[in-house]
Amino acid sequence: MNFQIKSIEEYNAAYQKSVEKPEEFWAEIAENFQWKKKWDKVLDWNFKEPKIEWFKGAKLNITENCLDRHLKDKADQPAIIWEANDPTEHHRVLTYKQLHQKVCLFSNVLKNNGVKKGDRVCIYMPMVPELAIAVLACARIGAIHSVVFGGFSAQSIADRINDAQCEMVITSDGGFRGPKDIPLKNVIDDALVQCCSVKTVIVLTRTRTPISMIKGRDKWWEDEIKKVETLGLIDCPAEEMDAEDELFILYTSGSTGKPKGVVHTTAGYMVYTAYTFQNVFQYQPNDVYFCTADIGWITGHSYIIYGPLAQGATTLMFEGVPTYPDAGRFWDIVDKFKVNVLYTAPTAIRSLMQSGLDYVKDKDLSSLKVLGSVGEPINEEAWNWYNENIGKGKCPIVDTWWQTETGGIMISPLANIIKTKPCFATLPLPGVQLMLVDEKGDEIKGNGVSGNLCITFPWPGMLRTTYGDHERCRQTYFATYENKYFTGDGCMRDEDGYYRITGRVDDVINVSGHRIGTAEVENAINMFTDVVESAVVGYPHEIKGQGIYAYVILNKESDDEELTRKDISMTVSRIIGAIARPEKIQFVKGLPKTRSGKIMRRILRKIAEGDVANLGDTSTLLDPTVVEDIKNNKI
Ligand code: WT7
Repeated sequence: MNFQIKSIEEYNAAYQKSVEKPEEFWAEIAENFQWKKKWDKVLDWNFKEPKIEWFKGAKLNITENCLDRHLKDKADQPAIIWEANDPTEHHRVLTYKQLHQKVCLFSNVLKNNGVKKGDRVCIYMPMVPELAIAVLACARIGAIHSVVFGGFSAQSIADRINDAQCEMVITSDGGFRGPKDIPLKNVIDDALVQCCSVKTVIVLTRTRTPISMIKGRDKWWEDEIKKVETLGLIDCPAEEMDAEDELFILYTSGSTGKPKGVVHTTAGYMVYTAYTFQNVFQYQPNDVYFCTADIGWITGHSYIIYGPLAQGATTLMFEGVPTYPDAGRFWDIVDKFKVNVLYTAPTAIRSLMQSGLDYVKDKDLSSLKVLGSVGEPINEEAWNWYNENIGKGKCPIVDTWWQTETGGIMISPLANIIKTKPCFATLPLPGVQLMLVDEKGDEIKGNGVSGNLCITFPWPGMLRTTYGDHERCRQTYFATYENKYFTGDGCMRDEDGYYRITGRVDDVINVSGHRIGTAEVENAINMFTDVVESAVVGYPHEIKGQGIYAYVILNKESDDEELTRKDISMTVSRIIGAIARPEKIQFVKGLPKTRSGKIMRRILRKIAEGDVANLGDTSTLLDPTVVEDIKNNKI
């Protein structure tokens, strides 16, 4: 493997080359993968449509790169180590050979059930190895996976299944998360009432909760495996995919409308996740790498499955939560498996920090070499705590900034190569051309400045479209500023040229590193029978980074406000999922609106933050008295 950057000089040289000769730069990196046929052209693009094509004409299968090619010298090396939710349940280890076999078998299950190249498959599973197997099996036969996080509601799943017209759902009877059992199959049953495209549901046994199984539609995972084994369908040749064939869809929220299906394609995504995984974490052979994300989010796709496996790494998957059975669980896992690289989220760090050092003190964390952070800005206190108590001052913290849409890490230190600084994602990776712009889209040059973060040149891991609606992709990301991809984030560049992400500048709330659209939450609240109108904003939350604050107008006075709050909360939970439940609900008589009827969220945000002294100009409001009412009744 010859794309590992080993020094700051090599980083500088790689960065420079990636800007001056991007096609040559990425072609050299792409040489390190297994292709059935090489590309005709490295890059073809314009941000106007947008059209982005990487490695056009190349043929490959990503699972041959993640599995088959490691069989020669890594067959018996652990590919996946799995730790169960319950610490007394035995952990599992799948070597590359075993993982390959299991993926092949399950690929044959998919084929046997009529799934073909290009079909969409929805995966709604707990964090067990079979989730990774299902994902890889889809990729092996060229089916497009759409993983939905296990915390989403039936309605959210139905929306996603219908948007992508999925033919199959893969789920399990249930899942264990901390002290709770999550009834996954029941939720799928509720969702499927609204979905006509689904012909088959494959159900893995995990919790042994009683579930309904519908003849002709629902099939047990274990039975289906036995069937293909009996048929002798053990091996499964990997489907030949075009570089730009769709690999997966992953839904993500924005400031308007329903979640969008972000589409990633095969070759560019593979090259980018492998390259960034290797260089950011400086992964060394035999290291144990532990990313605590759920595979239902992009972090899990890129940095539990594809990136690490493409690099022949050992990736640790954890079924549970950081605080179960107690707040020392991560450190127990690090100790138990001698984890070398730990990649987690600020929200987890803050919550463990609050539990105190008792949970850390007797744990052997000496195996750790590199720490990572992802999902939201990391505050200085959390950064320092992570650095001192977990890294013992000797592990670099890579604060990685990226998005579902970017496919892989964009701004981050390279461990031990780029000097870190608390709260700074530091410098762009090679291939990433950044620009800060003002409201008009003009470049903000120099250092010690802030602006809106844009990217001006394609990178291989970027989204290609939003599923079924290319215009929405253009509108959302490429129309705000001409010829630039707009990230939706505000960003500062300090005197050293280091980047610090300051947070979303649009109506997106980042709760525990998960993106929630305000419009989506408002729509859900408005579904509640007694609600006339609502407005939702984010406010600083000690653990979650941001919490959801909802201002709600009821059509009649509630005789039990606490109960009504719970009812609204339950309604949101049913419609979107528990992660979108508002932390605070304030009943108001009116909302601050401009004369043209637009809600002035700026004011609502200030009030939610508790900064009532600085509301700014309220004279343009239709009815300025509503602000007084809201201020006086703040919770
Ligand atoms: C948004 C993307 C990237 C995978 C997880 C979230 C915020 C992400 C950082 C970071 C500050 C960050 C941004 C971004 N974000 N990483 N290191 N520092 N902010 O993926 O759900 O697509 O959300 O998360 O606001 O736009 P996502």
